[in-house]
Amino acid sequence: MSNHGAADASEGVQREILSAYDQPETSEEVSRRTFMANATMTISGIIGVVLAVPIVGSLLPTGTSGKGTWSPLTKTEADALNEATSKPVKLTFTLKYKDGYLPTTEADEYVWGIKIDPAKFQAARPDIYKVAGGNTTYPAVNLGFVIFSPICPHLGCRFNWSASANKFLCPCHGSQYNFDGTHVAGPAPRGLDPLPLREQSGAADVTWIQYQPNTPARIVVSYQA
Ligand code: FES
Repeated sequence: MSNHGAADASEGVQREILSAYDQPETSEEVSRRTFMANATMTISGIIGVVLAVPIVGSLLPTGTSGKGTWSPLTKTEADALNEATSKPVKLTFTLKYKDGYLPTTEADEYVWGIKIDPAKFQAARPDIYKVAGGNTTYPAVNLGFVIFSPICPHLGCRFNWSASANKFLCPCHGSQYNFDGTHVAGPAPRGLDPLPLREQSGAADVTWIQYQPNTPARIVVSYQA
């Protein structure tokens, strides 16, 4: 794909993401209550765009096109997310994935969720709100929650939450992140990447986006919508 084509594809991706938020929304409080009542998180549909960059980690089991659907968030996980005022919640899913004519396959996947005040998050994360090209085209905080990609923005390993360190720790090269995803140590050039979260018809939808690793700006590599 040429650079020009890649840029067009990336812009197309961002337009698609933006359009998802053009729909009228209920108030945040009503949305949150509805979300928790239904305790359902899904990824609906998928459109994949791949640029010629090296990717170490990916949530996409095979390729970047096809259909993907998350299984419902359990009541226990939904309750934990709503109470997650000081520690993140690991939200696990069964990713059902269909690529072309191949049979549907399943893979265990996860994201990290935190509950946080939007103003507090914005103040803590200049890499999202102030770095040129770092801003997301969707609200990083929605329904009072932030959903983080589990992929380290350095070179794509998967980080974990350490209760003793009170940080996210990446085992590959030592990058560390606070509860709100702020980068505090190690070689990563930016904080953790938020994923879009929206309420629709009483359920919560997460759109999976994979960003280019090891760049201060968030450059879309692929996404599921
Ligand atoms: S991949 Fe996480 S620190 Fe390098």
